[in-house]
Amino acid sequence: MSKSKRTISGRTVVITGAASGIGRALAQRLSAHGCAVAIADVDENGLKETDASLNGNTLVRVLDVRDAEAQRDFAAEVREWAPTPIGAVFNNAGVAVAATVLHGAPEDDTWLWDINFHGVVNGTRAFLPILVEQDEGVIVNTSSVYGLLAVPVQSAYSASKFAVRGFTDSLRHELRGTGVAAITVHPGGIRTNIVHNARFREGSDGIGMDREQMAQNFAAVAMTEPAKAAEKIHRGVEKGKARILIGPDAYLLDTVARVAPANGFEWISKFGNVLGKASGKLSQVRNRAHAD
Ligand SMILES: NC(=O)c1ccc[n+]([C@@H]2O[C@H](COP(=O)([O-])OP(=O)(O)OC[C@H]3O[C@@H](n4cnc5c(N)ncnc54)[C@H](O)[C@@H]3O)[C@@H](O)[C@H]2O)c1
Repeated sequence: MSKSKRTISGRTVVITGAASGIGRALAQRLSAHGCAVAIADVDENGLKETDASLNGNTLVRVLDVRDAEAQRDFAAEVREWAPTPIGAVFNNAGVAVAATVLHGAPEDDTWLWDINFHGVVNGTRAFLPILVEQDEGVIVNTSSVYGLLAVPVQSAYSASKFAVRGFTDSLRHELRGTGVAAITVHPGGIRTNIVHNARFREGSDGIGMDREQMAQNFAAVAMTEPAKAAEKIHRGVEKGKARILIGPDAYLLDTVARVAPANGFEWISKFGNVLGKASGKLSQVRNRAHAD
């Protein structure tokens, strides 16, 4: 499919999950590129901090992406407020759960699916009619490398991110021939607060780590800063990409998923020397999952 370039700099953009991490970095980058920025999150204090770091026009709303009606109200408000056409809607808010299928809490999985998948669907459904009416703009939905390849203790997360990928790919085909596009973002490890906000089980039914150990392990393998991720996403959208991979780990896992779609994780584990700590930690997790 041919790529058509577009510009979102100077347009209005909408970003969920903007109180932290990738969402905050996107808001900062796009604000610096002349975008009017509508930011939303459940974390009011974090949102205020993000807003204080932006120079341009902003609309700041506390919003739970699980609430479809609140998303529709937000879209109507953005439409009234937007000083320029909406260039992009980033359905970025997301959370993580680390648990085996055997011992995981079903309510944690439901919590995650409601945010990571239904939150994305709600945001897409709320803003898509506005973009279609404009015949312009991009829906940018955040999946993950775990939406390309599944690893142990990430069953709920992987399922949500494969779902985002399938939903967004389908939408992209529906929009073919229009001025509107749908893009999937697959970040590798990005140094954000995602582990601090995650749910997981400690103790004998857990994954054998407390939150601090998990945060340290994540910090050791996450390769990309949020600002770099925001740059890649911004550039990818403007290049007209259909999907955006972020970080060398994302390219590696994408390749492994194609070559070994069923056994990709085993392959990664074998390439421990290449992947260094990343593989080691994942293998530990895999071994614990098997021990369960
Ligand atoms: N950090 C990574 O390594 C990584 C890798 C792949 C994909 N991702 C995805 O990137 C996205 C951003 O994550 P991040 O790494 O910046 O994490 P983060 O925890 O730093 O930021 C996520 C933000 O989402 C918000 N949020 C959580 N639940 C919400 C809800 N119900 N409604 C509105 N906002 C809510 C949080 O308050 C937080 O501000 C997520 O979808 C995540 O799954 C992250």
